[in-house]
Amino acid sequence: MMGIWARSGLPLNPFGGARGDGFLQKKSWNETCRPALDWAISTHRPPALLTLDVRTLMPQAPTARSVALDLIGAVLRRKRSLDDAIEDNPAMHELAGRDRAFARLLVATVLRRLGQIDALIADCLNMPLAPRAATVHDILRLGVAQLLFLRTPPHAAVATSVDIAHSRGYLSHKGLVNAVLRRLSIEGASRIDQQDIPRLNTPDWLWQSWTRAYGEPIARAIAASHLKEAPLDLTLRNDAEGWSVKLQGVLLPTGTLRRAAGGSLATLPGYTEGAWWVQDAAAALPARLFGFLSGREVVDLCAAPGGKTAQLAAAGARVTAIDRSTRRLERLVANLRRLALPIEAVAADALTWRPPRPVDAVLLDAPCSTTGAIRRHPDVPHLKAPNDVLRLAVVQDNLLRAAIDMLRPGGTLIYCTCSLEPEEGPERIAGLLGAGAPVVRQAIDPDEIGVRPEWITPEGDLRTLPCHFAEYDGIDGFFCARLVKDGSPASNR
Ligand SMILES: C[S@@+](CC[C@H](N)C(=O)[O-])C[C@H]1O[C@@H](n2cnc3c(N)ncnc32)[C@H](O)[C@@H]1O
Repeated sequence: MMGIWARSGLPLNPFGGARGDGFLQKKSWNETCRPALDWAISTHRPPALLTLDVRTLMPQAPTARSVALDLIGAVLRRKRSLDDAIEDNPAMHELAGRDRAFARLLVATVLRRLGQIDALIADCLNMPLAPRAATVHDILRLGVAQLLFLRTPPHAAVATSVDIAHSRGYLSHKGLVNAVLRRLSIEGASRIDQQDIPRLNTPDWLWQSWTRAYGEPIARAIAASHLKEAPLDLTLRNDAEGWSVKLQGVLLPTGTLRRAAGGSLATLPGYTEGAWWVQDAAAALPARLFGFLSGREVVDLCAAPGGKTAQLAAAGARVTAIDRSTRRLERLVANLRRLALPIEAVAADALTWRPPRPVDAVLLDAPCSTTGAIRRHPDVPHLKAPNDVLRLAVVQDNLLRAAIDMLRPGGTLIYCTCSLEPEEGPERIAGLLGAGAPVVRQAIDPDEIGVRPEWITPEGDLRTLPCHFAEYDGIDGFFCARLVKDGSPASNR
């Protein structure tokens, strides 16, 4: 079975998969074959280690652990996104399917629990490792992740970590790797019991931002929700009850079908006929706020990979999907083709592009820091910084003004971001309204979209948090506001 998003010439991803607010992403690693993965976690010792003399510095076939080591370095030091680092790592594509899944799981576990893992390692060292031994630090991180969070037998976790240190030329650090991991194999579990897990795994700036915005108990619950892999959410075109049976999932009150992550997307019922697409339950809410869409002209700004475009088109709108990334737009077009949903796709900068005439509705899913989707993107806390939020807020303001410009009088603008930061949500809308933009806020009624009343802010906007829907295993953090352009609908038609 083959996925569809790998670069041409590279082996295709057999897992299919999901990202928070998109669907059918280029790489879909969070869907894995559970039995194979469990096997890999508990027994994994790469064949290369069984058959080759590992005490050699000769180049070896890539292993899941060695690929994971490179990916961790790419994210933590070269600040690449995990998806991009995976896509650009040829060794990852050489691995067998279950090894790729294991490599991805290793990296995701280290990223989710980096604060905890680093604290455990620091407690075992007399002095911090020198910067030139950063790879040794990563080897230890991988070892601790296996020992304490992935149920790898201690002898396998320790031996493979020492072997990697050797094969990477860190001969003088092998004893240290061995000693630290052996010690943590004995003391680690009780040390974890003493840790403040949500706090340790959250960078200071995010902790402060969430504590300020939501209070400490909720900041804590948000951080705790990031420890787990997100489930697989599907948006159904129709016959929700029927598909929930066929797909063996749970229908959420918002209409999304939820399954445990796992298995190959393309072999699920309904994939070929385009009966559903992958989209986090929160990401599926904004497009539904337009109400009746049949025959209406809608511009989907910042549209790729197209989860919301698909919703708009499936609701009967005449959709123009804009994205400035040609590569991402190609994915959108392929996704919409699988679903047989007609749309017009335009590669353009939303700041300067304008429709031939003002339109009924604009959906602006603006680029943001993505801090609401950390469950699906555990690299985000290690890539983003407060400056990114400030920079993106300026982009969001400019895109909001462009979106309003495209609307006819009386037309509706939905603004949303998958960010938890107030600067990328309510503050943008407050700034826009305060500056006298020609729009009014139209409060969201929770019953419109089947959400809990407490998810609606006092101003009437939607604010979901990753700790919401805890009984269903959470939901991405989204902010969404609905604005209506001043003037009579008839005046510009
Ligand atoms: C949050 S993602 C959109 C997800 C998408 N709406 C969905 O539901 O699948 C943001 C998108 O904005 C695009 N983008 C960023 N700045 C843009 C601009 N100035 N004009 C058009 N697209 C832009 C990015 O390429 C990216 O695809």
